[in-house]
Amino acid sequence: MTQPQCAKLRSVVVGLGASLPKRVVSNADLEKSLDTTDEWIVHRTGIRQRHIASDDERTSTLAIAAARAALEDAGLSGADIDLVIVATTTPDQTFPSVATQVQAALGITAGAAFDLQAVCSGFVFALATADKFLTAGANKRALIIGADTLSRILDWEDRATCVLFGDGAGALILEAQEGEGTSADRGVLTAHLRADGRHGDKLYVDGGPSSTATSGHIRMQGREVFRLAVTMIADVVEAAFASTKTTPEALDWFVPHQANSRIIDASAEKLGIAPHKVVKTVDLHGNTSAASIPLALNVARDDGRIRKGDLVMLEAMGGGFTWGAALIRW
Ligand code: UT7
Repeated sequence: MTQPQCAKLRSVVVGLGASLPKRVVSNADLEKSLDTTDEWIVHRTGIRQRHIASDDERTSTLAIAAARAALEDAGLSGADIDLVIVATTTPDQTFPSVATQVQAALGITAGAAFDLQAVCSGFVFALATADKFLTAGANKRALIIGADTLSRILDWEDRATCVLFGDGAGALILEAQEGEGTSADRGVLTAHLRADGRHGDKLYVDGGPSSTATSGHIRMQGREVFRLAVTMIADVVEAAFASTKTTPEALDWFVPHQANSRIIDASAEKLGIAPHKVVKTVDLHGNTSAASIPLALNVARDDGRIRKGDLVMLEAMGGGFTWGAALIRW
């Protein structure tokens, strides 16, 4: 007699959307005001352009536009959502949260809404958090958004940081559905989060409400971040493979945080993930912090690469340090 399968709640992707500021700034544009070159930026990072928010575009407006697109994609309305989590480091105001602004704009009144701050790892942290609520049976449908306007906290005279970042937002809707409890289930199969505050001085903002009463500017020891990134990313991605008994061979798509093309290539190589499975949008968007993964997912879904049933690994690493990985059966 075959053993009966044990039903298990899964957080299944039912909608995806994205939003980018209208203004595109190329490397050549930056050359006009900064001691830099297109060649340096492309060679060291893979970035060719980024979208930069205008005065009338804010983190909330990008987040709301991405959320609307995700709702439309899912064929749902705000009334169907009972949890909103926005991963952001650049809220419009210190409070209220961007998540409550999204709620108000989309007519969401059920359940809770809150922002989550894990810098570039924010989207993976938000996804893992939403997954806990949904698989515990506490909520039915979560809208998770990665949205940032890091251009607002860049020192535009610091060529070592300002060429790296861009603005944008991406949104994903997860719905609690019953699965079989195997890695063949659709949904989030596992999520692993890490943090190590001893690295706080390697990537930080030199201001904030409680220290300088300003929003401050990004400061980074780029080489140190680079040196540690690949090991940390590989460690957490390997944990995600191990806990689901899956392998890089079984993976369809690797969708990493888009900080630097060289970090992405080195991580994929260390993990044994074939280059054709790697989704890269760093050339188009630069590093959009919490928005980078859902923006990349949106590109790869729209161009027909990511399809229902595909096995997709997400990973990110950012200030704190924070880092994490999530494996999803799309
Ligand atoms: O989400 C996580 C966020 N951060 C990251 O993932 C960033 C990780 N780090 C990196 O991506 C790389 O370290 C960078 C792209 C930031 C820098 O690349 P690098 O190969 O580590 O260069 P470097 O910082 O060691 O700088 C090399 C040279 C320096 O000149 P000297 O001292 O050799 O004369 C810099 O002053 O490049 C110079 N440089 C630039 N030159 C032209 C730094 N920025 C620029 C620039 N244009 N924009």
